[in-house]
Amino acid sequence: MPKKAYFDEKAAKWDTLIEDEVILRLKNMVVELALSQGSKVLDLGTGTGVLIPMLIEAVGLSGTVVAIDFAPQMLAEARKKYQWPNLEFLEGDAEDIPLADQAVDEVVCNSAFPHFDDLRQAAKEMSRVLKRGGRVSVLHPHSRDYINDLHASLGGAVRNCMIPEADVMHAIFSEAGFENISIEDVPQRYLLTGRKV
Ligand SMILES: C[S@@+](CC[C@H](N)C(=O)[O-])C[C@H]1O[C@@H](n2cnc3c(N)ncnc32)[C@H](O)[C@@H]1O
Repeated sequence: MPKKAYFDEKAAKWDTLIEDEVILRLKNMVVELALSQGSKVLDLGTGTGVLIPMLIEAVGLSGTVVAIDFAPQMLAEARKKYQWPNLEFLEGDAEDIPLADQAVDEVVCNSAFPHFDDLRQAAKEMSRVLKRGGRVSVLHPHSRDYINDLHASLGGAVRNCMIPEADVMHAIFSEAGFENISIEDVPQRYLLTGRKV
């Protein structure tokens, strides 16, 4: 089954699969990112919008969240739950993000990066849509090993969706135009951040 269909099929029950503990970890990670009030944030691979209320709270009424996903059923679930005047939904591919150059201050990508077919192209697109000095944050509420083992055990469309080793991730984001790249990979979280040069 193609990946888009895989996620669309899971859309209706996606939220029931996410444990409270995971939501708490994500909330803590978003708080730690200390997004500026008034900033424009892209939630790339938003899915059912798990991160949306956290991002909206962080950027405030003067900020904007743009939520993008390529699976229409996942987006439909997010749309059903969340409507704010400063929230915009777009159907689109991470490898060809439907935004202008330098459109956003922050790109946040939770639990989606390893699902993109061409990781280098997705990182380049994240860089293109970010303003200079803007930040990319690739996060997971689990370690790299946990995520990679999970995808291997799920099999099917996600069996090859792997987070590369730290040196490869560093190279992917460095070649895409980021500096100050840092990677934290511990049992309960994975977080790569970098600044667009
Ligand atoms: C594991 S889900 C995570 C969703 C959400 N960020 C969350 O934390 O619950 C991965 C999401 O990435 C989306 N996705 C996968 N490949 C994509 C691509 N090439 N472009 C845009 N979205 C993609 C899927 O449709 C899915 O909604």
